[in-house]
Amino acid sequence: MNDRPIGVFDSGLGGLTVLRALVDLLPGEDVVYFGDTGRFPYGPKPGHEVLEYALEISDLLVDLGAKMIVVACNSATAVALPTLRARHDIPVVGVVEPGLRAAVLATRTGRVGVIGTVGTVGSGAYQRVAAELAPHVELTLAACPGFVELVEAGDVDSDQVHVLAERLLAPVRRAAVDTLVLGCTHYPLLARTIGDVMGREVVLVSSADETAFEVRAMLRAERRRERARGGDPPRHTFLTSGDVERFRELGTRFMGPEVQAVQEWRW
Ligand code: DGL
Repeated sequence: MNDRPIGVFDSGLGGLTVLRALVDLLPGEDVVYFGDTGRFPYGPKPGHEVLEYALEISDLLVDLGAKMIVVACNSATAVALPTLRARHDIPVVGVVEPGLRAAVLATRTGRVGVIGTVGTVGSGAYQRVAAELAPHVELTLAACPGFVELVEAGDVDSDQVHVLAERLLAPVRRAAVDTLVLGCTHYPLLARTIGDVMGREVVLVSSADETAFEVRAMLRAERRRERARGGDPPRHTFLTSGDVERFRELGTRFMGPEVQAVQEWRW
């Protein structure tokens, strides 16, 4: 069990922001990452379709020997987490609760913004978790259609991104939030632009670090599962349902040199 990989998936490259935090915190672990770049974006798709993809990918990760699954996608977490947990007998970690938890700790005024895809915002997942976790927090949500497509095109800081951010972030600015949850794993890649538009006094919270801590805590709780240090160097395997070269190029840019062994996956 110890030497089995942690399986991680997203609609594309965004989940690499979570994987970066995971690999930094748990450098000894083998990981298998699935980026569904052939079928992204998930955000505008109906929930049942995203659920179907999430089931398919999680089954694949289990077949590949995963000892744990990290749903490194808010849109998939929002519609599929309970179903995935019921389906698999290994731990399944999502990104909604860890991100919100970090925001609740960071806020001083209790006014927290959440930006995400149309699917995530419409699912009500953040509102449900906030009601349980921190009913005193005043949540303002805004969907940001177009952000994911820009990131997947490799554009994270052009004028076009800035203009779009000015428009899409207007509701959370108006609500005078002091903390903003980047409720889509692609958005940390736009953090500079989002930070510029929101202003320096607003804390941007990504779920990546908090999710990595949760994974480590779970591995420790089930002691035998954490991979021992030393021995063979860890294996980082990447599968994409889209273009392999493009995934490698943008993946290296967004995550780092670990993105080497990229394989094509056809359903
Ligand atoms: N990274 C996914 C998320 O966290 C992006 C969804 C999409 O493909 O639209 O929601």
